[in-house]
Amino acid sequence: MKVISFVNQKGGVGKTTSCLNIGAALQEAGRRVLFIDMDAQGSLTKSTGLTAIPDNTPTVSDILTGKADAQNAVIHREGMPDIIPGDIRLSGAEVELIGAAGRDFILKEAIEPLSDAYDYALIDCSPSLSVLTLMALTASDRYIIPVAAQYMPLDGIVQLMHTVDLVKRRMNPGLDLTGVVVTLYDARRSLDKTILDAIKQQFGDKLFSDIVRYNSKIAEAPAYGKDVLQYASASSGAAAYRAITAEIIRREEK
Ligand SMILES: Nc1ncnc2c1ncn2[C@@H]1O[C@H](COP(=O)(O)OP(=O)(O)O)[C@@H](O)[C@H]1O
Ligand SMILES: [Mg+2]
Repeated sequence: MKVISFVNQKGGVGKTTSCLNIGAALQEAGRRVLFIDMDAQGSLTKSTGLTAIPDNTPTVSDILTGKADAQNAVIHREGMPDIIPGDIRLSGAEVELIGAAGRDFILKEAIEPLSDAYDYALIDCSPSLSVLTLMALTASDRYIIPVAAQYMPLDGIVQLMHTVDLVKRRMNPGLDLTGVVVTLYDARRSLDKTILDAIKQQFGDKLFSDIVRYNSKIAEAPAYGKDVLQYASASSGAAAYRAITAEIIRREEK
């Protein structure tokens, strides 16, 4: 199982959207996929159609606090990646774990028993460089940075890279960048082109060859509990995520 985190401490840059749609495209390509929702907003969970999680259903917070095993927290549904859901209870778990011994390794250890059951585990991170994000990066082989073309991202990226370096030095020396996804790109805006050039400068061939343009189907799909591949299979958004996923497979499985 290859574990990949979607990270960027800025909100609204396409982390959840990229995680959802890359997961769907990996599944379409025949890979066994597990989603892990590490954002207390539970956007990934909701995007897959799980809008309310009953109190007695274990979530990722229960596996972090040792109240449930990862195997028991996995939700299976036909035709979709499996998911360990997350919700607002993650905030409580985060506080509870502040002083816990070996805290940063908790997620890594918790999901180890699942490693033969999946080809990929994709972790949707919160918009912060919090304890939860440190746990996610410690559990990951790889990370993907989604960047929205409207915001000059480079200041935030410096901070993100400091965090990645810290995780590599102290917890997870093998952590590596799979690639940078540019999202919400609008070719009519000149700022978007400027930002795309800046990202190319910074990341070179780590930038995926395909970018994700603004596409209303991508934004609509989660309201129906679907990814864009299911919701609008012929859309430009679905095509972009298929192409990026093919590149991820080439990079990770060569
Ligand atoms: N390529 C796109 N085209 C149109 N809307 C998009 C696109 N990518 C993301 N969105 C929308 O932008 C918003 C923010 O994206 P999201 O993935 O939730 O960001 P994050 O997880 O980084 O906070 C969501 O409403 C999402 O549906
Ligand atoms: Mg999100």
